[in-house]
Amino acid sequence: MSETQPLLAVNGVEVVYDRAALVLKSVSLAVPEGGVVALLGPNGAGKSTTMKAVANLLRADRGEVTRGSIVYDGRRIDRLGAADLAPRGLSLVMEGRHCFASLSVEENLRVGAFTRRDGRAAVADSLDLVYRCFPRLKLRRDSPAGLLSGGEQQMCAIGRALMAKPRMILLDEPSMGLAPQLVDEIFEILRRLNREEGVSFLLAEQNAAAALRYATHAYLLENGRVVLDGGAASLRADPVVQASYLGLDADGRQTFRDPAAARPRQRWLCCGRWRPE
Ligand SMILES: Nc1ncnc2c1ncn2[C@@H]1O[C@H](COP(=O)(O)OP(=O)(O)OP(=O)(O)O)[C@@H](O)[C@H]1O
Ligand SMILES: [Mg+2]
Repeated sequence: MSETQPLLAVNGVEVVYDRAALVLKSVSLAVPEGGVVALLGPNGAGKSTTMKAVANLLRADRGEVTRGSIVYDGRRIDRLGAADLAPRGLSLVMEGRHCFASLSVEENLRVGAFTRRDGRAAVADSLDLVYRCFPRLKLRRDSPAGLLSGGEQQMCAIGRALMAKPRMILLDEPSMGLAPQLVDEIFEILRRLNREEGVSFLLAEQNAAAALRYATHAYLLENGRVVLDGGAASLRADPVVQASYLGLDADGRQTFRDPAAARPRQRWLCCGRWRPE
């Protein structure tokens, strides 16, 4: 890969659900090797859809990329299957921190190494790394994942992604439903993985305040379009971002406690209805 070519490039991607609903409208973004890039936006902006488009998971939701291309490590990946990505070093942690509830923590982690072919010793090294990053998981290694707290389940989901020895992790709403202190704890670990292990991240987040403290660059998605992007420091100083996403008025004062908490969230139920979370 050339020095100027990003590790991940989403180029003018359009996504349609059910052959009818146009949800992403020419979204472009780039994640450089070693970057931590945030994808910000309110409910329904298209953050998860973007992540699923990159991870080739749209088909399960009757969605498809109808225009544009997605290039990872110099190769188009939008025509590959979802299972082809982990061996190429691209892992996804889906929104809602999915863990296998009846499997133990360690069994969940080992599932993440399923596609690896570099031997037991290398997998054991990855397990050590996960336990060093998340000592709580080591303490709960034999517990069923379904009994973990929300924060521990998020750690387990991130740990499982790490077990694939990724170059890049797509992380959808790691802060969702977690106390601010735990959000910082998790973001600190992501920063360490970025700096010490060289893992690149694309983070979808409604919690702009937290994401902009840790990301190097961010894109703001509204109604399926990128409306703003830039360095994290310049976005933190942008009056529109401050007013709409950081809850700050023109004098930099907090106007409400937590912008993410101020908006009602909705979840898609298997019976096909939206409900407030
Ligand atoms: N399977 C689906 N079928 C039809 N429309 C969908 C489907 N999944 C999502 N959508 C629609 O696509 C749009 C973007 O949804 P998406 O989940 O990508 O948003 P988001 O930015 O991740 O929101 P949130 O912050 O609530 O997670 C929404 O209008 C949503 O209603
Ligand atoms: Mg989402």
